[in-house]
Amino acid sequence: MYQSRIIGAGHYVPENIVTNKDLEKLMNTTDEWITERTGIKERRYFTEGKDTTSLMGFKAAEKAIQHAGIEKNEIDMIVFATLSPDYYFPGCGVLLQKELGLPNIAALDVRNQCSGFIYGLSVADQFIKTGMYRTVLVVGSETQSNFVEYSDRHRHIAVIFGDGAGAVILQRSEEKQKGILSTHLYSDGNLAEELYCPHPGTRLKNRITPEMITDGSLLAHMNGNLVFKHAVNRFEECISTALTHNQYTITDLDLLIPHQANLRIADFIARKFQLPDEKVFNNIQKYGNTTAASIPIALSEAWAEGRVKENTLVCMAAFGSGFTWASALIRM
Ligand code: UT7
Repeated sequence: MYQSRIIGAGHYVPENIVTNKDLEKLMNTTDEWITERTGIKERRYFTEGKDTTSLMGFKAAEKAIQHAGIEKNEIDMIVFATLSPDYYFPGCGVLLQKELGLPNIAALDVRNQCSGFIYGLSVADQFIKTGMYRTVLVVGSETQSNFVEYSDRHRHIAVIFGDGAGAVILQRSEEKQKGILSTHLYSDGNLAEELYCPHPGTRLKNRITPEMITDGSLLAHMNGNLVFKHAVNRFEECISTALTHNQYTITDLDLLIPHQANLRIADFIARKFQLPDEKVFNNIQKYGNTTAASIPIALSEAWAEGRVKENTLVCMAAFGSGFTWASALIRM
């Protein structure tokens, strides 16, 4: 079996900054409520005609390729995680393959929402471990600002989500003690409808009706309290599993990169593990919850800030719709 290492990361966020104060003008919410309940101060929204999920993924990928110092033609496969693809089908992987001008390489889309990036990383890791591919591009990208509604009935969701993309280059390595040490992936479909977007799906003969627009069923639905309660437990479990599986304890960990869902969730996990602030990376204040993009954006920023270096022991963990949750332990 080969080992795989993350050799570069990059991210792209749209230039349009939307503050909590901006949202106050659109719905009955306040900067105080959003800050206190989520930690978010601002987020980025895409610009029509300029940013799409695949194009943001492309911009992040270009930066990751440059950071890794590879030629794009070295990429054997694209794994693209998103819940907000450009089209209902095909997925964004092929659009990114076209945009990068790569030959007919494999392009796979992952539909695992907030855990999508770690699921994608795990898939890429398996392809490298078995020797099938040498270099895999893993992308998380989301355009979510256009499927929330800026209204009082949707305010608990509208204020949270943002747009953006992050990408990493994963490559085969001969160094056994470094790279992706483990990934752990979980799901519980019994709770699928606690955080989901019911329509337009394929359950009904009429996939879209005028009633769906008025009754809000084209919008995401979230039982926020239930998601919160499950998230804190599942985060704790999958981080503990990642560490014990590799015979590490929490004191060995250099940096935790949690999916940026809510600053209160990240703070809860940090307190539970007694992790000091410098060992937990948070940027939700600037970007909100960017779902599959949140972890690769955070990794890219942490690397640029010097918080990720050669040998840093990083744990990534995510929880979200599905429910799905996952962790990855990485020796950089
Ligand atoms: O990415 C993974 C998936 N998502 C998550 O992990 C999200 C997990 N859940 C959460 O982050 C939190 O549940 C939320 C931030 C979504 C909501 O915070 P909360 O502290 O659980 O608030 P709540 O839903 O219990 O609502 C408390 C109050 C309600 O008013 P009443 O009934 O007490 O009068 C809401 O109507 O806050 C009200 N509220 C708002 N007020 C101002 C809900 N949204 C807003 C808003 N502005 N945007």
